[in-house]
Amino acid sequence: MADKLIIFDTTLRDGEQSPGASMTRDEKLRIARQLERLKVDVIEAGFAASSNGDFEAVQAIANAIKDSTICSLSRANDRDISRAAEALSGANSARIHTFIATSPLHMEKKLRMSPDQVLEQAKQSVRFARNLVGDIEFSPEDGYRSDMDFLCRVLEAVIAEGATTINVPDTVGYAVPELYGEFIRTLRERIPNSDKAIWSVHCHNDLGMAVANSLAGVKIGGARQVECTINGLGERAGNCSLEEIVMAVKTRKDYFNLELGIDTRQILAASRMVSQTTGFVVQPNKAVVGANAFAHASGIHQDGVLKARDTYEIMRAEDVGWTANKIILGKLSGRNAFKQRLQDLGVEMHSESDVNTAFAKFKELADRKSEIFDEDILALVSEENIHNDKEQFGFVSLSQHSETGERPQASVIFTVDGKEVHGQSDGNGPVDASLKAIESLVKSGAEMVLYSVNAISGSTESQGEVTVRLQNSGRVVNGVGSDPDIVVASAKAYLSALNKLQSTADRVAAQG
Ligand code: KIV
Ligand code: ZN
Repeated sequence: MADKLIIFDTTLRDGEQSPGASMTRDEKLRIARQLERLKVDVIEAGFAASSNGDFEAVQAIANAIKDSTICSLSRANDRDISRAAEALSGANSARIHTFIATSPLHMEKKLRMSPDQVLEQAKQSVRFARNLVGDIEFSPEDGYRSDMDFLCRVLEAVIAEGATTINVPDTVGYAVPELYGEFIRTLRERIPNSDKAIWSVHCHNDLGMAVANSLAGVKIGGARQVECTINGLGERAGNCSLEEIVMAVKTRKDYFNLELGIDTRQILAASRMVSQTTGFVVQPNKAVVGANAFAHASGIHQDGVLKARDTYEIMRAEDVGWTANKIILGKLSGRNAFKQRLQDLGVEMHSESDVNTAFAKFKELADRKSEIFDEDILALVSEENIHNDKEQFGFVSLSQHSETGERPQASVIFTVDGKEVHGQSDGNGPVDASLKAIESLVKSGAEMVLYSVNAISGSTESQGEVTVRLQNSGRVVNGVGSDPDIVVASAKAYLSALNKLQSTADRVAAQG
């Protein structure tokens, strides 16, 4: 029988560390539900000790998700580990993932600890964690740049203390495939009790080799867990991408000979959800989930695919969730059809009143846009989740005037803590005028570091999806808004980013 490859998704923890990708508790819960539908084996839901917000998100996910193991990251100290255990207490299956850096550079410059102190702390924290939860993962941070002899000592010791998974991170994305694979193999060969743990790979993408390195860790090194994120989201250049690693192992089963538990038909929905929630747009030529991943432009390729699909296709688009871009609803569609479509798309609404609000928005959109695609519904619902009553700012309406040779003017009505206010401004263009109209009242002082517009379903008839990235007092957040009118989409995105600046105010950068 082929071995199983465990898929450990860290979109909600390492992915969220990407500047601007921070998510609210509800957004994380929604993504966790999609990860469960995708049947990932382990969901790293966050870093419980890093903030109250993260604690609550891990706790909510641990209570709601039943089929995947839920994991929390924690530094190698009793306080972090206790917080992780507390947040995970409602989980069906819980894992604590504790880490400490082991490379000479990190130990000396960052931790200011001697190797012996690090070894002791690693042992002590695994021992402590093991008394709280049976499933313990240990990571030597910057493991790939650590001294082999020292790493062997640390890993042998933590396995003896009860660590059940050993994860070897290439924290800075420095590895190359063959060397990384051999590094894992050497560790497994030299450590006497290595067979008592499952070996895991965790690769960053700084040199664009995260997926290749992870595959080498599996093939050459014998790792049986891969840590990855949807769309490769993550710090700097990101992590190993889940969709690529999964489809590589599945498509080349002849070579890897490994079983996967993943329902690959849920991949695209997961990719879209993460992209719409974080505002990190997926590049069109991205493998598996990019808009062009299964599009054949050249005549020779089109001809070949029509005659025999496998002339130019190694995977089937429908196996990763692509369906024809069909019109699914219009203005005559009823509430039941809308609700059914939400279910088919894997969107869960909290209550019937949420369905009603989303349906009212859908009707509004259908009046302005004759063809409603799945993408429109997903955007509408994610917006629905973003602009809820609990948030400080909400969009109401906007009017603007622009004419060649004249300076554009905008007037925006929005709510602040439920009360309507009215801002006015001019600007370089209608978008600039609208955002200045909001800022004239909010006075956030935030700096805009990114503004991007994307057509949700292709043509000028489609909705515009706008991402606004704001930076303030060291915090970076993304807001996303969509509407057939891109000026309105921009105002919604700006308000959404302002809401996120509020909700991330209590976060602390706790990663040591
Ligand atoms: O990249 C890294 O080293 C990490 C560890 C905390 C596992 O994310
Ligand atoms: Zn990482």
